Amino acid sequence: MNIQRIGVLSSGGDAPGINACLRAVVRIGACHGVEVMGIEEGFDGLVRGEMRLLRPRDVGGILQSGGTFLRTARCPEFKQAKTQLKARRELNESEIDGLIVVGGDGSLRGAQALSKQGVLIVGAPASIDNDIWGTDMSIGVDTALNTTMEAVDKLRDTASSHQRVFLVETMGRSCGYLALHAGIICGAEEILLPEREVNLENVVAEIEDAYARGKSHALIIAAEGASVKVRDLAKYLDERDIGFETRVTILGHVVRGGSPTAFDRMLGSRMGFRAVELLLEGKGGVMVGLQGRSIVDVPLEDVTSRSHEPNLEFYDIARMLSR
Ligand code: ADP
Ligand code: F6P
Repeated sequence: MNIQRIGVLSSGGDAPGINACLRAVVRIGACHGVEVMGIEEGFDGLVRGEMRLLRPRDVGGILQSGGTFLRTARCPEFKQAKTQLKARRELNESEIDGLIVVGGDGSLRGAQALSKQGVLIVGAPASIDNDIWGTDMSIGVDTALNTTMEAVDKLRDTASSHQRVFLVETMGRSCGYLALHAGIICGAEEILLPEREVNLENVVAEIEDAYARGKSHALIIAAEGASVKVRDLAKYLDERDIGFETRVTILGHVVRGGSPTAFDRMLGSRMGFRAVELLLEGKGGVMVGLQGRSIVDVPLEDVTSRSHEPNLEFYDIARMLSR
């Protein structure tokens, strides 16, 4: 297949490192003499035909920026076949021979749907939740983890000055990867995950024990999707004589911003490079993924039918490390 023009879009939740991926797609495409059309605002922009030719200079100065310069959007109607067919028509009319979709699990479902409509498509995983099957790390995870760590390190200063237990909520609606890894790198006494039912009495006992052992403060890190919300848990702890005062911090979208780390810049660049190569080879219906030290490609069919589970052994390790 003679590929002369490709499209690229970012969809769903943004993540630090997406710009590195977009920049790689444009520059590697140019190296191969391929035109790259930047599609604005995800699938919503695709169906509206919002696209522009991107040259190497157009992606200068974005490597170090979080977010996505093509912007993103949610487009619920893309779940309908008629909208997918409209998108395919837009691609055909724009003479786009192949498409790269950079996004999370929902966006990759959209990519799979378009692939089934006959579009040559390659996905690149970008989601701070790290909930995407087929890749050890998605774009944005390392930066989000470091942002969470830096925030919690700051909270430690005030927590130990006041003998408080801080309950910190980070992102992760259905996958607790961020909270679990933050729990270890920040030395949390307790971690609340969507994947583990929370036992309130055990949490109370854990914090009481930390106080009895003479700890100057304690940390509870929770994923936003945990079965118990941090504000409710703080109230529950306040009603019991645990020794510490409680305070709550919700990190929210802070965790999704910031300049991408070296790891995410490298990951985004490598994934963008490989995605262009796969399109040039005429290989679609796949997602690029990091497995070990290699960038591989895995079928979108597999990616969209499974999810990346965090390693819950780390929960037990975190508890032992916090003694
Ligand atoms: P993320 O990609 O970060 O998981 P969403 O779940 O919001 O974000 O998905 C982003 C977009 O992908 C949605 O707004 C929609 O356009 C598209 N999408 C999500 N799920 C599907 C699906 N099952 N079929 C087709 N398109 C989908
Ligand atoms: O999927 C990534 C994510 O950041 C989740 O962790 C979070 O729950 C969700 O996106 C927030 O979505 P929005 O930016 O639409 O509020």
